[in-house]
Amino acid sequence: MQIRFADARPEGDYALVIPVQGKDRSGLAALGTAQQTVTATLDRQRFEGEASSVSEQFIDDGGGTSRLLVVGVGKGDAKGEAAEKLGGTAAARLQTSGEKTAVIDLSGLGYDADTTARVGLGAALRSWRYDRYRTKLKDNQKPTLGEIVIVGGDAGAGQRYEQRWAPVVEGVSLTRELVTEPANVIYPQSFVERVRASIEGSGLDVEVLDRVAMEKLGMGALLGVAQGSMREARLLILKWNGAANGGQPTAFVGKGVTFDTGGISIKPAAGMEAMKWDMGGAGAVVGAMKALALRKAKANIVGICGLVENMPGGNAQRPGDVVTTMSGQTVEVINTDAEGRLVLGDAITYVQRNFKPSTIIDLATLTGAILISLGHEWAGLFSNNEELAGKLQAAGQESGDKLWRMPLAESFDRLIDSPIADMKNVGPREGGSITAAQFIQRFVENGTKWAHIDMAGKAWSDKAASTYEKGATGFGVRLLDQYVADVLER
Ligand code: BES
Ligand code: MN
Ligand code: ZN
Repeated sequence: MQIRFADARPEGDYALVIPVQGKDRSGLAALGTAQQTVTATLDRQRFEGEASSVSEQFIDDGGGTSRLLVVGVGKGDAKGEAAEKLGGTAAARLQTSGEKTAVIDLSGLGYDADTTARVGLGAALRSWRYDRYRTKLKDNQKPTLGEIVIVGGDAGAGQRYEQRWAPVVEGVSLTRELVTEPANVIYPQSFVERVRASIEGSGLDVEVLDRVAMEKLGMGALLGVAQGSMREARLLILKWNGAANGGQPTAFVGKGVTFDTGGISIKPAAGMEAMKWDMGGAGAVVGAMKALALRKAKANIVGICGLVENMPGGNAQRPGDVVTTMSGQTVEVINTDAEGRLVLGDAITYVQRNFKPSTIIDLATLTGAILISLGHEWAGLFSNNEELAGKLQAAGQESGDKLWRMPLAESFDRLIDSPIADMKNVGPREGGSITAAQFIQRFVENGTKWAHIDMAGKAWSDKAASTYEKGATGFGVRLLDQYVADVLER
């Protein structure tokens, strides 16, 4: 989808999109002579201009008939959010409509440069789709809309979009692609290759550890998960040094389980296909790294992905096995389906030993229990630092990737003590997301600031929203990007 910002409407045919704020229909003045009729039709449709509501009609514009979408932007949302919803709603409605061009006329809204640009962001994000495996799409199911022209906004919007938001669209798109691809296509090695190809020329440094390298480092927990699969594990490290000084980096760590069968503690068949997106945390980390590099963020960041496939092969680890982690701590593997924390523990040790980050933020589709706690609207946030937690929650609010704070405490930590090893990989059923977070915290060294985001309810959506179609959401990319902008770049 081409997003363009212009001073005036283009020549030729297009669908026209006019936003209205609730019952305030002053934006319709842009319609000229058609305004009166359109106002009357909106009344008869009982159109109230609520956020994401649409009235579609055809108007006689003198030179012929053209499609008009009146889109509500409501009055309740913050401006940026309302702007994204507007762009997303228009794009979704017109994508396969037969129209090739849409013009969104913002002249009634008085949006500043960033808000205007975020109309484009919403439209671009909502237009993403992946038709690679659909060979039999009917003509009327194929996208026709190629270009969205935004007029009547602030003159600085084009530059703002290119600098700040087009890179984010690139990052989110990479994440969604990785999350959408099935596990016969994306496995640890091919994940690395796909990322390499996608970030070429971005200025990111890439380093990859294979099984042998990780064996030398003693990453017994991560490799224990991988050993039941024919697909060998990888550790992917992306580096971005954009700060003027060579200060300590911030580390993003992603769970990249390219398929989670559960291993020997195998999952039930129903719904198991969803576990192709158990690499959503790693997907978010690489998407964010790409976005940050493309917009040349003034920050030092290292992004680490622990990539494994959790399979019940003949060499798979067994319940009761004890593994030694890179940190030296030992783990009794009670349940081979609690694999994400094993992968993250070693990845977090690696990043601390090699990069001495001041802050670590890990993202993982870690527990079904977080879905029971928070459903599909919020991801869970755990942190050992009040300030970091607050800043992440603020970035979540601003970006739409919302976070709800969950507790950590010594009393939960005790629940993962093991009679044979330093810890076991599961606690009781109750509070399952919390004991998972406590497990990860045991790998955080010397009071490093740390936050863990359990995004099991957020990587994939069964229903469409204003900035994504159902399927891969790209959750986490905008959160991390916004955190960097708010905290590290000022
Ligand atoms: N990848 C799953 C968590 C998950 C479940 C993500 C549902 C998305 C939707 C994770 O590896 C897992 O299997 N967790 C177990 C932990 C349990 C064995 C302690 C779970 O949540 O059931
Ligand atoms: Mn699992
Ligand atoms: Zn998993």
